[in-house]
Amino acid sequence: MSKALEGVRVLDFTHVQSGPTCTQLLAWFGADVIKVERAGEGDATRAQLRDIPGVDSLYFTMLNHNKRSITLDAKHPAGKEVLETLIRDCDVLVENFAPGALDRMGFSWERIQALNPRMIVASVKGFGPGPYEHCKVYENVAQCTGGSASTTGFDDGPPVVTGAQIGDSGSGLHLALGIVTALYQRQATGRGQRVLTAMQDAVLNLCRVKLRDQQRLERNGVMEEYPQYAFGEFGSAVPRAGNASGGGQPGWILKCKGWDSDPNAYIYFIAQAAVWPAICRVIGREEWITHPDFATPRARLPRLMEIFATIEEWTKTLTKFEVMDILNQYDIPCGPILSMKEIAEEPSLRATGTIVEVEHPERGSYLTVGNPIKLSDSPTEVRRSPLLGEHTDEVLAQLGYSAAQIAALREQRAI
Ligand code: COA
Repeated sequence: MSKALEGVRVLDFTHVQSGPTCTQLLAWFGADVIKVERAGEGDATRAQLRDIPGVDSLYFTMLNHNKRSITLDAKHPAGKEVLETLIRDCDVLVENFAPGALDRMGFSWERIQALNPRMIVASVKGFGPGPYEHCKVYENVAQCTGGSASTTGFDDGPPVVTGAQIGDSGSGLHLALGIVTALYQRQATGRGQRVLTAMQDAVLNLCRVKLRDQQRLERNGVMEEYPQYAFGEFGSAVPRAGNASGGGQPGWILKCKGWDSDPNAYIYFIAQAAVWPAICRVIGREEWITHPDFATPRARLPRLMEIFATIEEWTKTLTKFEVMDILNQYDIPCGPILSMKEIAEEPSLRATGTIVEVEHPERGSYLTVGNPIKLSDSPTEVRRSPLLGEHTDEVLAQLGYSAAQIAALREQRAI
């Protein structure tokens, strides 16, 4: 079966997490992704957070599936020539170097366009144009500058970063969409273009409901679905909302049986208005169905914390899975807090290819997250990440280099 992006060739100059997330997706959709790394060291993540000495880390393997790896010194004159050949040959160049690094290598947008006017040049940077455009940025910097940290955590504590890598992987996802869109536009124009995702912008895009709330707060001074309402203080900026839902249906995280010894014995409970009578019956509070203090969503708003505390008295008597089974019988939305251990062992996620077991020649088998975007006509087969420079000879031969030329490049340390 053909793949959606079959025939698209990607010169992958990415490293760490944001860029590799993007190119891994393109590879999963069928693009030929050629990852360019420095000989000897490669992507820094190959050696970071290693669990087996001398073997590519899970950090690297889990972000670089289905790619080919070539080594190339982009600052060596002969290496630059190879890079120019690659630029002429590929459709997309993806990079997430520090600002200006590609220019310093001699590959400005103008130079790339001169080599290949159809080339799409896609970049992740920490910030867009402005006062911080020259800054190097990692995940948590983006979470802090994109509005996530100031709105995450509890009101009486400091800002908190989230475990979801919304700055890195979030930016990579945004960039992949930009690339595919630019490829689509190129069909009509015949021209390449630049695609930029700033990590701050990607995080802010994912936090747009908080900018919504900022404006609601400025207009009304309070936000009734926030836990600060009705007895706490609102300041001038959107406060941290604890575990409030962020949408129109109130929710909170509640303890379940075993919470005192198991850090994940909790469930997210949504007190959706449509199923309020069912909630009251399940927790044994039928009188709340008609009681004027509880009968309507508006009446419940100032009492949400009291309501959730009462529901918790019930959830604490059952395991999170028992609670879920019962609530689902009545269409009451809820979600058990699943640990990574539970997720890794979940058979249904294995069945859909969301969790995949991959065989690697040096580390044996390991688990990874497969393609979360499922295309019915372009199924994803997750193939292991490449060893450093595993495909250098193969790719150069495809570009027309003879074995003697490849040997000469190696002799000069250009590859
Ligand atoms: N051949 C020759 N030189 C190479 C090379 C190659 N194959 N690959 C990389 N380099 C060089 C770069 O040209 C650069 O040289 P320069 O500083 O002389 O211009 C150098 O390696 C280091 O690259 P840099 O991107 O600065 O790496 P870093 O480790 O110092 O910084 C980041 C890492 C992530 C902070 C930085 O790349 C960055 O801010 N990227 C954009 C935002 C981003 O994606 N952040 C999230 C990462 S998950």
